[in-house]
Amino acid sequence: MEVATKKTPLQKEIARRRTFGIISHPDAGKTTLTEKMLLMGGAIHEAGEVRANKSRRHATSDWMDMEKERGISVTSSVMQFEYEGCKINLLDTPGHKDFSEDTYRVLTAVDSVIMVLDHAAGVEPQTEKLMEVCRMRNTPIITFINKLDRDGLPPLDLLADIEETLGIQAVPFNWPLGMGRLFRGVYNFQDETIQRYQKGAGPQNTVLETENVEERIETLMGSGAEDLLFEIDLLSEAGATFKKADYLAGKQTPVFFGTALNNFGIKQMLNTFVTIAPPPQPRQTTTRTVQPQEDDFTGLVFKIQANMDPRHRDRIAFVRVCSGEFTRGMTVRHHRLNQDLRINNATMFMAQEREGVTSAFPGDIIGVHNHGTIRIGDSFSIDEPLWFTGVPSFAPERFRKVQLNDPLRAKHLAKGLKQLSEEGAIQVYRPLKGSAFILGAVGELQFDVTVDRLKNEYNVDAQLVGVNIAAARWVEADDPSVMQAFERRFQNDLYHDGAGDLAFLTYSSWYLNRTMEEWDAVRFKSTKEHVPDAVAHD
Ligand code: G4P
Repeated sequence: MEVATKKTPLQKEIARRRTFGIISHPDAGKTTLTEKMLLMGGAIHEAGEVRANKSRRHATSDWMDMEKERGISVTSSVMQFEYEGCKINLLDTPGHKDFSEDTYRVLTAVDSVIMVLDHAAGVEPQTEKLMEVCRMRNTPIITFINKLDRDGLPPLDLLADIEETLGIQAVPFNWPLGMGRLFRGVYNFQDETIQRYQKGAGPQNTVLETENVEERIETLMGSGAEDLLFEIDLLSEAGATFKKADYLAGKQTPVFFGTALNNFGIKQMLNTFVTIAPPPQPRQTTTRTVQPQEDDFTGLVFKIQANMDPRHRDRIAFVRVCSGEFTRGMTVRHHRLNQDLRINNATMFMAQEREGVTSAFPGDIIGVHNHGTIRIGDSFSIDEPLWFTGVPSFAPERFRKVQLNDPLRAKHLAKGLKQLSEEGAIQVYRPLKGSAFILGAVGELQFDVTVDRLKNEYNVDAQLVGVNIAAARWVEADDPSVMQAFERRFQNDLYHDGAGDLAFLTYSSWYLNRTMEEWDAVRFKSTKEHVPDAVAHD
C-alpha cells in the first residue's frame, strides 16, 4: 500500500503554479484572450486595460516614443493571476512590431503554451516559427481557435492544417456548431454536452445543455445539422483520443473553438489548462538536472529589459525561479562573475503594477535591477556552481551593416555594440577578412533600438544599411582539418560573433541548404548556448 506523504509548503506552491506563454500570429486574438483570462483571474477589473497597453505600444511610430512607454511593456511582460486555486504566470511573447529574439527566449522560460489561431487564417508564419522554438523542449501546447463569430475555414480543414503544418496531432475537445452569423455554440466531446452561445448576452452568453443533445443540435442547426452530427460521430469514433502523456510530450494538442472577444470557450479551455498543464518542470544544467522541489533556490535569466531609467543605465533582469524559495534580501551566487549578489530590490510582476517581492517559488518570475552586470543565460544558486542550459541565442533572420557617421567614434561604436550584444539586444558579427560590423536580429525593431541606444548611451551616431545576407548559422566540426578546409573555402562568408564564435552568413537559404548538404561533417547550428568558461570548467 502506498503511504500518503504530506506535501511540504514548497511542494504545494509548486503544484499550483502554471507558467505559460501565448503563441500566435499578430491579430489572431492574443491580447483579447489575455485580457479575458486576467478578468477571470481578477488580476484586472475592467475590460480594455491590456488592450490600452497594446495600442499605446503599437500606435507609437518611433522608438523614442516606445522608450517613454517602456514602463508599460515591462509591467505587462509577466502577468500573474489566480484561477481555480492555481497561481498562473503568463509571460508576454512580444508579437507585433516588437517581435524579437526575446519572443523566442520567453518561450524557453515557460512550462507550456497556448496557441491562438484565427479560424479564418489557420496556421500563419509567425506561429510556425514560434512552434519551432516550442519543439526544442517539447513544450506542451493547448490550441484555441478564435473568432468563431466570424466566417472562417471548415473546422476539419483547420485540424488538418495544424497536423500537417505543425506536425502535432490535434484532438478537439469541443466542436463548433456553425460559424459567423450562424454560430450557435460548441459540442463538448468530453461530457457530450452543448455549450450554447447567445450572441449579445454579455457574460451570460453561455448556456449549458446536457439533455437530448442530438435533438438540440438539429433544432439549433436546421439543415446544417446532418453534416455536423456526422462530423461529431466521426471524430468521436475515429478521431484521436486525448492522451495526457502525449500532450505533455508535445506530441498532441487539445483544441478548443471559441471567440475571445465574446468571452466564449475560454473558461472551458482554462479549466482544462489548470487540470492538464504541467507545473514547473525540472531544468537542465551543464552538470545535472535541477528539480523544482529542491530546498535551495536556483534561478535563470532569460530576458533583459534595458533603460528603465536611461540616466542610470538601469536594467531589469528577468529571472525564472527554477527551484526552492526565493526570499527578499537573499544572497545568491552569480556564477559567471563568481560573485555574491544580495537581492533586496526584486520585483514581482503583476498585471498592473510592479510589486516588491517578499517570496517567490519555482515558475515565478522576479525582476532584478542591475547596471549591466547581469546577462541572458546567467544562472544563480545559493552555493553550488550551476549553469542552466536551454536559453540560447537564435540564428538571426534579418541583417544590416553599420555605417558610422563620425569615424572618430569607432572605438565607442565597438564598445557599444559589444555591450549590446552581450546583453542580448542584438547580434554582432565581424568578417574574418575586413572590419565591417554586421548586425543580426530576429525582429526589425531590434535594429531601431540598437541605433537609438548607440546614440543615447554611447553618443555614437550610426546608421544601418541593407546588406546581401539572408541566413546565418554557427558552424563547428569535430575534425579540425574539416574546419580548416571549410574556412579556406568560405573565407568571405565567415564571421565571428560577439563571443568570438564562428558563423556562416550567406545570401540565401537555398545556398545555405546546399552548403549544409555538401559539408555534412560540419554542424550548422541555428541556436547557440551561452556557457561561460568559468562555470563550464568547474
Ligand atoms: P493580437 O493580440 O493577437 O494581435 O490580437 P488582438 O487580441 O488585438 O485582436 C486583433 C483583432 O481581432 C482586434 O480587432 C480584436 O478585437 C479582434 N478579435 C479578437 N478576438 C475576436 C473574436 O473572437 N471575434 C472577432 N470578431 N474579433 C476578435 P481590432 O479591430 O484590430 O481592434 P479593436 O478595435 O477591437 O481594439
